[in-house]
Amino acid sequence: MLSQETIAIIKSTVPVLEQHGKTITTVFYKNMFKAHPELLNIFNHANQSQGRQQNALAGLVYAAAANIDNLGAVLPAVVQVAHKHKSLNITPEQYPIVGYHLLGAIKEVLGDAATPEIIGAWGEAYEVIAGVFIGIEKEMYEKAEQMDGGWKTFKDFVIAEKVIESDVITSFYLKPVDGQKLPSYKPGQYITLRVTIPGEDYTLNRQYSLSQAPTDDLYRISVKREDEVTPNGKMSVNLHREMNVGDTVEVSVPAGVFHLDVESKNPVTLISGGVGITPMMSMFESIAKNTPERPAAFLHSARTRKHQAFDAKLRLLNESMPASTYAVLYSEEGDGFINRDFLAANVIEGSDIYVCGPTPFMQAVIKDLYAMGISEEKIKFEFFGPAEELELVNA
Ligand SMILES: Cc1cc2nc3c(=O)[nH]c(=O)nc-3n(C[C@H](O)[C@H](O)[C@H](O)COP(=O)(O)OP(=O)(O)OC[C@H]3O[C@@H](n4cnc5c(N)ncnc54)[C@H](O)[C@@H]3O)c2cc1C
Ligand code: HEM
Repeated sequence: MLSQETIAIIKSTVPVLEQHGKTITTVFYKNMFKAHPELLNIFNHANQSQGRQQNALAGLVYAAAANIDNLGAVLPAVVQVAHKHKSLNITPEQYPIVGYHLLGAIKEVLGDAATPEIIGAWGEAYEVIAGVFIGIEKEMYEKAEQMDGGWKTFKDFVIAEKVIESDVITSFYLKPVDGQKLPSYKPGQYITLRVTIPGEDYTLNRQYSLSQAPTDDLYRISVKREDEVTPNGKMSVNLHREMNVGDTVEVSVPAGVFHLDVESKNPVTLISGGVGITPMMSMFESIAKNTPERPAAFLHSARTRKHQAFDAKLRLLNESMPASTYAVLYSEEGDGFINRDFLAANVIEGSDIYVCGPTPFMQAVIKDLYAMGISEEKIKFEFFGPAEELELVNA
């Protein structure tokens, strides 16, 4: 339990730290990686260089600190991050390292303003926040291990099949090398792939949504080749160009809070842009397999027909269900983007809505959904990178 005095210090200093948020976390990461270069094997360097990870971590530390006497308010965000931590095999022993360097960075950036009382209070608060993460993650690791076919950290999988789905998206069918049955997952969840690429100093970890309904013996992921950007995407380009049937990768147990509520009978609207189609494939196929009467709309935006994956499969699934619809817009073929008129015509009334795609896509779609009077609780979304704040005001 923190004293009232400590709580008061934390609350009064949150705005100051927020003001210096990015500077503090940039210093924190620099110092931490210098002292613990082995951590460079788990952090995503591209997210680091774009500042996305820094913003995410700082944002949550300050949100938790501002609610230090009512951590329940940030629990959903903590659980979402704990899923990501679990999929990267973050361990309790790593928390004091993060704490030490975070406090060190606060001292370094604030200088004399960071009095011993302030640093002491933040040390206590960090311990409380870390304790919550560690507790939730411990439970998750235990569950992962106890699941039928489950395992705790990473396990070797072999690429059993590699299928080109479009000009930019290729699927990889992954089977466990030990031939064990696989634990099921909730449609919409992701795995982390860990790969060592020759010539790279560190291992790469990247998340990929499972892109089909759960099966006992394999996981399928579908990866967009990020080679229209500079520098090229490391993992995706390596998977497309170098990895083939018979090669092995390491995989963690499925994780994530963005998933279909399979118990619910509510209608469902799935809205995706580009490679954001992957979790939706798993959801739509699961509905077709298990609850085909459940009304479901699959709405998708792709640049062109050649960019789009899974069109033939989606048509088949759609035909197999009595109350489903499937609509695609090709933005570079004159269809324009998903806009409010399109949503008004295609979103099923009262449905649970799932959105996944590039950040500007999600921002525009969710703004329109709010403007249509749809409430926040009906909408779930997934970032294909560290979670960011969406600018949804002025809807
Ligand atoms: C929950 C979740 C699910 C996901 N599901 C999928 C999925 O189903 N399919 C899929 O294809 N992807 C998915 N992703 C995204 C995926 O994890 C990877 O981020 C993606 O494949 C790119 O990884 P990469 O290694 O190829 O690119 P990276 O090497 O990580 O590069 C990513 C971007 O950063 C830029 N960059 C890299 N270094 C720098 C630098 N020094 N300066 C400036 N910019 C830089 C690159 O140009 C590129 O645009 C998902 C992500 C999450 C979090
Ligand atoms: C209380 C302490 C911590 C907080 C508040 C925190 C917060 C966060 C947040 C908000 C994210 C982004 C989640 C997302 O992708 O949406 C994240 C990701 C991550 N965290 Fe933590 N974290 C903490 C401790 C740790 C520790 C101890 C480690 C291990 C050294 C760690 C390693 C990571 C990694 C590797 C990622 C993924 C980053 C990436 O994409 O590169 N975190 N964390």
